[in-house]
Amino acid sequence: MQVLIVPTEQNATLFAARIIAQELRAKPDLVLGLATGRTMEQVYDHLVRLHREEGLDFSRCRTFNLDEYIGLAASHEGSYRFYMRSKLFDHVNIDPANTHIPDGTAPDLKAECRRYEALIREAGGIDLQLLGLGSDGHIGFNEPLSALRSRTRDKVLTEATLRQNAPMFGGDPARVPRRAITMGVGTILDSRRCLMLVTGHPKAPILARAVEGPITAMVTASALQLHPCCDVVVDEAAAAGLQEIAYYRWVFANEPEWAEFRDLA
Ligand code: GLP
Repeated sequence: MQVLIVPTEQNATLFAARIIAQELRAKPDLVLGLATGRTMEQVYDHLVRLHREEGLDFSRCRTFNLDEYIGLAASHEGSYRFYMRSKLFDHVNIDPANTHIPDGTAPDLKAECRRYEALIREAGGIDLQLLGLGSDGHIGFNEPLSALRSRTRDKVLTEATLRQNAPMFGGDPARVPRRAITMGVGTILDSRRCLMLVTGHPKAPILARAVEGPITAMVTASALQLHPCCDVVVDEAAAAGLQEIAYYRWVFANEPEWAEFRDLA
């Protein structure tokens, strides 16, 4: 795992977008795992701009989103299908047939979860998985005590998650669906590369537990410590609780892989 610290949220979201763009240029038929939430909105803004200004090409890209609420139609403004269309898919040259999000309205949810896992396998697995961090330490919707080997399944959301995501439902946690389909921790760890993006002071304590704390199902993001190729891009505010900051800065300044991103530091 590498932790890459940049001054602001703007720099961090641009960093993530540039990593995605670098991977997409190297492999035009990239299988890209996508995340939702407020942190990702700026990443998608940057990707749309890179598409318009630099011709970043999504025509062969295939995407798999981490999760979707159960019971919301794709047309519902709170659904992640709606989010992805409005933030990214409708503004770049991606083939809608190549965009995959679990169907939270499927009559048989267990069958839908199996179908989703099979689709990922048929695509050859996920090359790059983008991840945010929930206030309770979740990745996807893998709430505390999610098995670290779990696969795509339906989960009951914590009250903390309902509160965190209430702004997308008129500010009322009672309007947030109580359940979601999510890739499992094991599904996420099967990705060839993981990229977690975390910004803002409120996430500093949970980021420190995820990155430097023990690996535990209580903080499912801590499972990323097991991943052989995981980068964590953070702004200074989110990095405030980390112990080994000096070393992370040293690695970022000296690792050749990051040379073209150092203008963001
Ligand atoms: C939701 C998503 C997560 C995401 C999290 C962070 O819970 N299921 O995948 O990481 O939101 O959201 P935000 O960026 O709004 O803090």
